[in-house]
Amino acid sequence: MLERLPPAPADPILGLSEAFARDPRPDKINLSVGVYQDEEGRTPVLECVKRAQRRLLEGEETKSYLAIDGLASFRQLVPRLVLGHIVPVELTATVQTPGGTAALRVAAELIRRHFPDARIWCSEPTWANHPNVFQAAGLEVRYYTYADPTGVMLDFDGLVCSLDRARPGDVVCLHACCHNPTGLDLEPGQWRVLAERLRERSLLPLVDFAYQGFAEGLVEDATGIRELVRAGLEILIASSFSKNFGLYAERVGALTLVAQTSEAVQAAVSQVKAVIRSNYSNPPKHGGAIVATVLADEELTQIWEREVEQMRERIQRMRELFVATLAAKGVTKDFSFLLRQRGMFSYSGLSLAAVERLRTEYGIYIVGSGRINVAGMRTATMDRLCTAIAAVLEN
Ligand code: LMR
Repeated sequence: MLERLPPAPADPILGLSEAFARDPRPDKINLSVGVYQDEEGRTPVLECVKRAQRRLLEGEETKSYLAIDGLASFRQLVPRLVLGHIVPVELTATVQTPGGTAALRVAAELIRRHFPDARIWCSEPTWANHPNVFQAAGLEVRYYTYADPTGVMLDFDGLVCSLDRARPGDVVCLHACCHNPTGLDLEPGQWRVLAERLRERSLLPLVDFAYQGFAEGLVEDATGIRELVRAGLEILIASSFSKNFGLYAERVGALTLVAQTSEAVQAAVSQVKAVIRSNYSNPPKHGGAIVATVLADEELTQIWEREVEQMRERIQRMRELFVATLAAKGVTKDFSFLLRQRGMFSYSGLSLAAVERLRTEYGIYIVGSGRINVAGMRTATMDRLCTAIAAVLEN
């Protein structure tokens, strides 16, 4: 049977990282996958994580299974990080998942099992893996307008209008901040309008919160979620700690539910646990234990907040340097829109042909859509990067 299987196409993001790893050119630059790099090109283990790991190494007494929904301390601390104190404890619950991707998958399976007619609406464009995850769970994927045709301006009116096509009971996948791939986020007032529209049309928001802390701050980045809460909506939130804790390889994420009654929360969590049990049974411990150890300790939390701030500020500096260096190279195309985008990614507006030339001629890897991982840029390689972009744009 295996002999009859055709090869699957390469993943549009992780497949590029595989190609990058095979590329022998010493001066190659990887701006494809969303992984943070420092000025030396390293993806560092955060100081707060190192300290938490030392504590875990010394104090850990068992490697027995976690509960289906993960570590109790993680489940208590994460909702406070995501929601602050605006939701009463009994109206929310969190389960620990292997990365934000598993949180999305569990949410999608929950919907598919209990609301088989629900369709899920993704932004156009969205993270390349969203449709895969949702379709694999059996959901029909539809798209709402998000950006204008150039991909560099938010089309909020288009967004709101396109949700008129959704049916009551459909699910809308939103990006809490640092929209992937465009870097275009909603203003607080726009979140309010959107929340009201979701409520009027009985749509369920599933919020992907993969970049908390990378736009403006850990609290500020939850503004949109708080507006959804204020509108009295039920909400599903998929958090990832890959980026803000640098815990990519540990696969640590969370699915948080907000409901209107404690009975609804408890019933929904029991169904989430049934989904998890038939999928990966229970989550891995280490990453969740690191996050819980940091969040439970004031000193470690302060160190973490500073480290998130440093990463955020470095990304912003790279945005500014990139725009300035392109201008200094004589590039006439206006790239100043990058300064309005937030988080790791920017839609550069580069054509597929330009992206391909960057890879083949210069060893510079960018996702085919033109998405650039700004967090992978460095001062040391900026000149080479911008020289190459200037060259491909000239032709
Ligand atoms: C990305 O968008 O590059 C990241 O979220 C990593 C991934 O898994 O695709």
